Amino acid sequence: MYNEVKVTDKIFHIGVNDRRKELFENLWPLPNGVSYNCYLVNDEKTALIDTIEMGTGGDFVGQIMSLLNGKTLDYLIINHMEPDHTGEIGNVVRSFPNVKIVGNNKTFKVLEAYFGIKDNLLEVKDGDSIELGEHKLSFTMTPWVHWPETMMTHDTDKGILFSGDAFGSFGTLDGGVFDDEVDFSFYEDDMLRYYSNIVGKYSNMVQKAFAKLAGLDIKIICPLHGPVWRTNPSKVIGLYDKWSKQEGEEGVVIIYASMYGNTARIADYIARQVAEEGIRNIRVYDVSKTHISYLIRDVWKYKGVILGSCAYNTCMFPLMEHLTSEFEHYGIKNKFLGIFGGYSWSGGGVRNLMAFAERIKWDLVSGSCDVEGKPNSEKTINTKAIAVNIAAKIKA
Ligand code: FEO
Repeated sequence: MYNEVKVTDKIFHIGVNDRRKELFENLWPLPNGVSYNCYLVNDEKTALIDTIEMGTGGDFVGQIMSLLNGKTLDYLIINHMEPDHTGEIGNVVRSFPNVKIVGNNKTFKVLEAYFGIKDNLLEVKDGDSIELGEHKLSFTMTPWVHWPETMMTHDTDKGILFSGDAFGSFGTLDGGVFDDEVDFSFYEDDMLRYYSNIVGKYSNMVQKAFAKLAGLDIKIICPLHGPVWRTNPSKVIGLYDKWSKQEGEEGVVIIYASMYGNTARIADYIARQVAEEGIRNIRVYDVSKTHISYLIRDVWKYKGVILGSCAYNTCMFPLMEHLTSEFEHYGIKNKFLGIFGGYSWSGGGVRNLMAFAERIKWDLVSGSCDVEGKPNSEKTINTKAIAVNIAAKIKA
């Protein structure tokens, strides 16, 4: 038994919800699960656009056969080769041995590496298209959104963009599939967590993809994860545009590493001072408690970042070291940075945070403080300057 979800008369959404997996890519927590979407065009010719992750879809091929109602599958279009979307390729090809597999030269290299498939390939380039009858599908290469082979498929008849990972989100589709059927507030934070952690590193390529897609008629966006945007696609386009330009919002994220609570106390002290400067969006996190994906999300979201680390073996605390290295790895930019920390003997937390600041070239505000032992108002006199300076820069 399957839901028959129509995007249009001849295009079906075939999605599965994964509520079992703990970690997406064995890395990112999924408290709200994730959906794997794919799409079937049932015109004179038929095309399946992407598949789902292996083992999540029950009788995936059976569902497709039921929708095709005796017709064969003519095309399998692969917009993206990551295994969360290609797990059923083997079953599809075994069930429809004459299916033509549509992709680009990079797609086919990965396809062969994963599946050993070398036959029945139809290589497409930018602007190529296939006719299905009423529907004509054209292809746009969008490399690195999210892998090098990534492309998007555009239905020129209905103005539908099959966008791959782009415009996707964590979070299962709990009955509602379309943007007008769901409360977007359920998805928004997880959409940014998905964007910042999965796609964000390639933000400049997202901007290049936007430039290439600019001339297309886009009325509906069908991503591989999360809701289908049929009513207000400009909303998700606007969010992706803002996020990929790394235009932060007014707010400050304070992340600290603390073994015995002293650096944590300074974090709360600074948070209050930042609030007194009129900043309303303030988030304070313990790096040892909160998963890094949430920290990256909020750092992506807000303009201000204040990092605090106790010293650990004359270095930063290891999890702060990991976090800051990820900031560099992701190429996060356009941030105002404040630094604080504490130590018991020779220090190392603040010293190494300063070295990080130099490498990443965020705008370091003056007023850092490195507290020996237990903090008190005298030792933390400089935190006021951090709060005042970062708030002033954010509001400027
Ligand atoms: Fe949803 Fe890059 O895979």
